[in-house]
This record gives sequence, structure tokens and C-alpha cells, in this order.
Amino acid sequence: MADLHARQDRQVALHAQGWELARMRFGGRAFVRGVVEVSNFCREDCGYCGMRRSNRRLERYRASHDELAGWIIHHRPAQLTDLNLQAGEDPRVVEELVLPLLRTLRQNTALGLSVGLGTLSPRVYPALREAGASVYILKFETATAAHYRQVQAPGTLNERIAHVRRLAHDGWSVSSGFIAGLPGQTTDDLLRNFELAAALPIKGCSVSPFIPGEDTPMAGEPVGDVELALNCIAALRCMRPGWVIPAVSALNLTGGDQPGSGYGRALRAGANLVTINLTPPSRRHNYVIYRRSRVYLDEDTVLSALADAGLSPSRTSLAEHWERQTVLADLAACR
Ligand code: 5AD
Repeated sequence: MADLHARQDRQVALHAQGWELARMRFGGRAFVRGVVEVSNFCREDCGYCGMRRSNRRLERYRASHDELAGWIIHHRPAQLTDLNLQAGEDPRVVEELVLPLLRTLRQNTALGLSVGLGTLSPRVYPALREAGASVYILKFETATAAHYRQVQAPGTLNERIAHVRRLAHDGWSVSSGFIAGLPGQTTDDLLRNFELAAALPIKGCSVSPFIPGEDTPMAGEPVGDVELALNCIAALRCMRPGWVIPAVSALNLTGGDQPGSGYGRALRAGANLVTINLTPPSRRHNYVIYRRSRVYLDEDTVLSALADAGLSPSRTSLAEHWERQTVLADLAACR
């Protein structure tokens, strides 16, 4: 098992191994996905998240179909192969916006379509697939039931896991994730994230360093160590060379020894997915997962981080990559 607390030479070696494995599997390419944060209403009350329902200081919004559709169809960055529609857990935005927008995008673009909408009623998942989405992002956040309760993550860990399994069983490509450095996380909790990730039917996993959000009960807690998050990314790559592992924007928010550089370093430690934020500028300041002073990764920033890491944008979409993998696995199972 990789040493998650490695520093200096051993850390350099761990990251180099992550980088090399990603290069061997993905040929120096990384996926480029856009994200639109379509609603910041949320029925959950996670202790770590600024969009929690008890946060009364947040102005809530739901974007509209027409605000987004034309712009995405005609003006999205050319390198995008995929788009993720993300929201707080807000069943209303799913009906009013996400389903019609997915249908519009399916008809008018070849984009791979991802959604990250939390745990929804089981009848909604097939509707999202029929509308054109094939990738579901559902993070388990932390892998031990007691810690999950302690940080007030959504529902119970078992329910969350059951939704991941159901989605995968129903043919979704599922990506999950956890937060490194969450308050109260023991070394055992941290290791269990790897164990759970390895046991789930997922095709990708993110690692986000904990960022203490201003309007949350955890505002006074210490920020997660970016080195730990980067080591987790490299270790995940070593554990599952074929997974898609994103470089998340929170990596640039931790300060640390080299402030602002976590994102690029993740790409040099084995991450192979970058996200361009396409949320309309008028809405962005209210989508506060972490802090109000978020970093917005626009097209230029993301593409130069990729180039600096010696990577180029994948021409295949993530959705297509995963669909092909499924077909190949089915073929391999035929004898
Ligand atoms: N620090 C790090 N990651 C966070 N998330 C939410 N709040 C925080 C935080 N304070 C992550 C969770 C959630 C996703 C939308 O953002 O993993 O699922």
C-alpha cells in the first residue's frame, strides 16, 4: 500500500508512479468536461457544505433551460467532449430543467452527458438515462459509517452505497469520491476510503481536500492537507490504473507550501480529467460548495494547466470511453 503521508523523495516517487500509470493507460491525454451548476437549492444538511439547507445566508437559484441551452450549443469551448449538470439535492430542478436540457443537448450535440444530482427517487434515474445522460457522479464522501454520521453526510452511508450500486446495475457509468482531511477523519477512516472505492462498481473516483466553508458548522476547522489529497490521487491511480480520476478545483484552495498549484500537481500525479466551469457568471458566487472565494477554472486556465503537465485533451468523450469499455467487457465474458 502506498504511503499516504509520503513526503520528499518518497512522495516524488509515488506521484511519478501515478503519472506513469496514467500515461500508459491514457496515452498522455486527459478528458475535458464542462460543468454547469444548475441549482444551489439542497434538501441535505451536510456539516461540511456551504449549500446545506440550514445555511440561510445563501441566495438560492435555479437556472432556466433557455438561459443555458443556446449558450452551450453554440458557444461552449471547442475541446469539451462532455458536460456535467450538477446541483444541490433539488428534485424540482431535475424535473424543470435537467430533463428538458438533457433532451435538448442530446438532440443538438454529441456531448457525453453526466449528472451529479445527489440521491433521487429510483424512478428518476431511468428518466435521466432516457433523456440522454449516461454518467452519474455520486460521491460517498467518507467510507466509515460513524464518520459519515459525524460529518452529517446525506442520509446514511449504506443508503448512499445502495444508490451507487443501483445506478451501476442499471447501466450507468458511475464515478464516486471522498474528501481527504475531513474533520474527525482517522488514519483508519482514510484507508477505508480506498477499500470502499475498490469494492464499488465504479469507473472513477475523486479526492477533494477538505475546505472549511464559511457558513458551515465546520468553519473553524483546519483546512485539509493538499499533500495528503495529492498522495491519495496518486495512490488511487496505482490501485486502479484504468480509472478516471479528476483534478478538482478545491486542490487550489488549500494554501499549503505551493499555493494555487495543487490542480496542476494532481495532473502530474495521475489525475486524468479536468473540468471547465461553465456556470453563468451571475450565478457562480452563490454555488458555494467550499467558500465564497472559489477559484473558477475557466477554459484558458484549465487548458494551460493541461499543457503545463504535458497532457493534451482527449478526443473521445468520457461517456464513449466508458461505453466502449463496457462493450469490451461484455465481449470478453462471451466464450
Ligand atoms: N470541502 C471539500 N469538498 C467538499 N464538498 C462539499 N463540501 C466540501 C468541502 N467543504 C464536495 C463533496 C460533495 C461535492 C459536491 O463537493 O464531496 O459531494
